[in-house]
Amino acid sequence: MITENRWMHILGVARKAKEIAAKFKPNDDKFIEDMFLLGIMHDLGYEFMESNTSHAAVGGEILKRGGYKYWQEVAMHGDETVENMTDQLFILNCADMMTGPNGENFTFDERLKEIGNRFGKDSAPYQKCIIEVRKLKNDTRYSKIL
Ligand SMILES: [Fe+2]
Repeated sequence: MITENRWMHILGVARKAKEIAAKFKPNDDKFIEDMFLLGIMHDLGYEFMESNTSHAAVGGEILKRGGYKYWQEVAMHGDETVENMTDQLFILNCADMMTGPNGENFTFDERLKEIGNRFGKDSAPYQKCIIEVRKLKNDTRYSKIL
């Protein structure tokens, strides 16, 4: 189930994605709206499962069935092994890593610290996030979102 806390996270990610999209393409209102919607959609899979690893695939599958154009971004979000992120996936992953579990505005470092505290420093989610954040920071598009 999507809990109230999770809903605040989802809304926070959507607003952060909107903010980042406006830095990417300040004159493209449709792109900015689309990135807000992508944020709203990104954790849909949690309504049907609690699993950290498979909620993305489940959400992506539901959205694919519904004809949503960014279903692949939803399916691939948070996957640190993805090469060549689309702009939409890059924005979504950055927004997700800059939003806390209750919708807080976080830096990458604050988000990592929170995940480390919640799951433990040796946990798979934390180790995956370390890799993902490194990847996002090393991306040439990162300078656009600062
Ligand atoms: Fe997610």
